Amino acid sequence: MYRFLHCFGLGIIIVLATHMANAQEKAAQDFHSYADPGTVRVKHIDLDWDVLFDQKILKGTATLTVDRISPDRPLILDTRDLNIEKVETSADGRSFSPGTFAIGESDKFLGAPLTIPLPANASRVRIHYSTSPGASGLQWLEPAQTAGKKAPFVFTQSEAIHARSWIPLQDTPQVRVTYTARVRTPGNLLAVMSAEHDANTTRDGDYSFRMNQPIPSYLIALAVGDLRFRSLGPRTGVYAEPSVIDRAASELSDTEKMVVATERVYGPYRWGRYDILVLPPSFPYGGMENPRLTFATPTILAGDKSLVSLVAHELAHSWSGNLVTNATWRDFWLNEGFTTYLERRILEVVYGRPREEMEAALGLRDLNEEIAALEDRDEILHIDLKGRDPDEGSTDIPYEKGALFLRHLEQTFGRARFDQFLKSYFNHFSFQSITTEQFVAYLKQNLLDKYPALAAKVPVDEWINKPGLPATAPKPTSPAFAQVERQAQRWLSHDVSATRIPTNKWTTQEWLHFLKFVQDSLAAPVSAGGPADASATQLSETEKIKLMSELDRAFHFTRSGNSEIAFQWLLMSIRNAYEPAYPRLEEFLLSVGRRKFIKPLYEELAKTPDGKERALTIYRRARSGHHPIAVATIDEVLKWRAE
Ligand code: BES
Ligand code: ZN
Repeated sequence: MYRFLHCFGLGIIIVLATHMANAQEKAAQDFHSYADPGTVRVKHIDLDWDVLFDQKILKGTATLTVDRISPDRPLILDTRDLNIEKVETSADGRSFSPGTFAIGESDKFLGAPLTIPLPANASRVRIHYSTSPGASGLQWLEPAQTAGKKAPFVFTQSEAIHARSWIPLQDTPQVRVTYTARVRTPGNLLAVMSAEHDANTTRDGDYSFRMNQPIPSYLIALAVGDLRFRSLGPRTGVYAEPSVIDRAASELSDTEKMVVATERVYGPYRWGRYDILVLPPSFPYGGMENPRLTFATPTILAGDKSLVSLVAHELAHSWSGNLVTNATWRDFWLNEGFTTYLERRILEVVYGRPREEMEAALGLRDLNEEIAALEDRDEILHIDLKGRDPDEGSTDIPYEKGALFLRHLEQTFGRARFDQFLKSYFNHFSFQSITTEQFVAYLKQNLLDKYPALAAKVPVDEWINKPGLPATAPKPTSPAFAQVERQAQRWLSHDVSATRIPTNKWTTQEWLHFLKFVQDSLAAPVSAGGPADASATQLSETEKIKLMSELDRAFHFTRSGNSEIAFQWLLMSIRNAYEPAYPRLEEFLLSVGRRKFIKPLYEELAKTPDGKERALTIYRRARSGHHPIAVATIDEVLKWRAE
């Protein structure tokens, strides 16, 4: 890239200034971006696309307005599989003249750098480009993959580093941009984005958006499909396909209440509207906190609002993540740990303390299972992800260990003080991207140093930099779960039959705990003489199948319409070779693309030669319907080679 530089005559002062800017940026060096925002920083992006469903591409321009901190340096952008047609630059912001560019070598995780030399005074750069059909951040759905079966659908997923596969930009969360977009679609379809738009827009296939608040690149989002809107409250609403909109609106009817509950504790909601887009089932995540417009999987539509903790979670990101953002992907726990903590606080206000306790206890259980399976280096909140795909850091550690750390602070300093602290933290760093070090310094100054005797009880360095959990970590428990365990135990020791367990008041969370408890019991050695009994034996496969059938007859788990319960049951069915559930397993894997569900199911299948065969047979049919991110995950699990 140095061959472009021709402004060497600026003297030593500039060099020094550049050095200092670099030194500042070094504090937050992002190993997952080629950009050098300490020298040139993108401030605003104007986007203009045609959405071409027949070619499965976006085609148009991205016009970047930049701050020249080191005027002699080129603009380096992140790209992945983009076709760059031409580049233009402008000094007055209006008239553009042809420019040059170079695309560097492509890296498996990072894609390729696009280097654009900037003439003196150039402050805007226009890139004419198109995406590729296989772009990792886009999924193009055939009509058959939608609920309505008539119209195609496309949606983006930018986090962690997929924005670069559909927009050439500085794809690092420490760079924040405002943006506008103009999107042309086939006439009958609606485009929505993580931005402001005219609510009464006519469906004419020409849509405009504006995001006036600076956001990191991973929050830029777009979806196009046959969408309807339904209002849920004064500033909340839901978008979904026509045949899903009624179910979605009634499931999500507590959304406005959640916004109010969060504002009461953490300060005003700063993004104007909060809408939710319910996507087709191939969406690879549960939810994505795109500002003003959360993207959500339809698998949360259980019919009884039992899975709306996901809405509490994505809404909470409006403070933790979108307002105060992780500066690099090693600081991801600042996004997800804070959000998981806030999520539970919202649930407590809207659905009561017992619900919060259950969710926290389920979280701790998952965390302990994860810790048992992970290497030490992956159990650290401030994780080192250099040379790795940032998605590898997306385990229960940033979520549940992060939330437990904040719970520990809350319990130690008291809720009132901790709430005050968090509220001022969100305010202090609003619209900024920060590192773990910056958080720790702020914590020290505003909480720890004020109450040294209390601070001595929280091993902050151990929480952030060491694997596992500190011995003093909170252990959330649920009295309701203790009851469930007693009932499950009575059934397992043949004191009652399944149909006689008093389950009529159980919530989804209690059912989930019941299933996990039963699974653990089926896997554990059974002994007459207590845990130390050397004659302990496993239940035989036949005995396990008998117990599974009894449960299924009593509670119809194989037919459960609740995705979390169905997932837990199907996982158990694989583990215990319960064949009557296999057709449902196949149907589930063919219709759902949510990674959290399909990855563990395929992993479980892959543990036996027989299971691996069945997994491959199903995946052969499922693969083409999956999102590129899900495909990458499952290809890895099954060691899939192109056929
Ligand atoms: N921001 C995440 C989703 C994400 C993380 C996408 C990392 C890409 C990379 C989102 O807020 C999230 O955590 N979603 C969860 C649901 C939540 C209720 C725990 C999910 O998708 O399962
Ligand atoms: Zn999250």
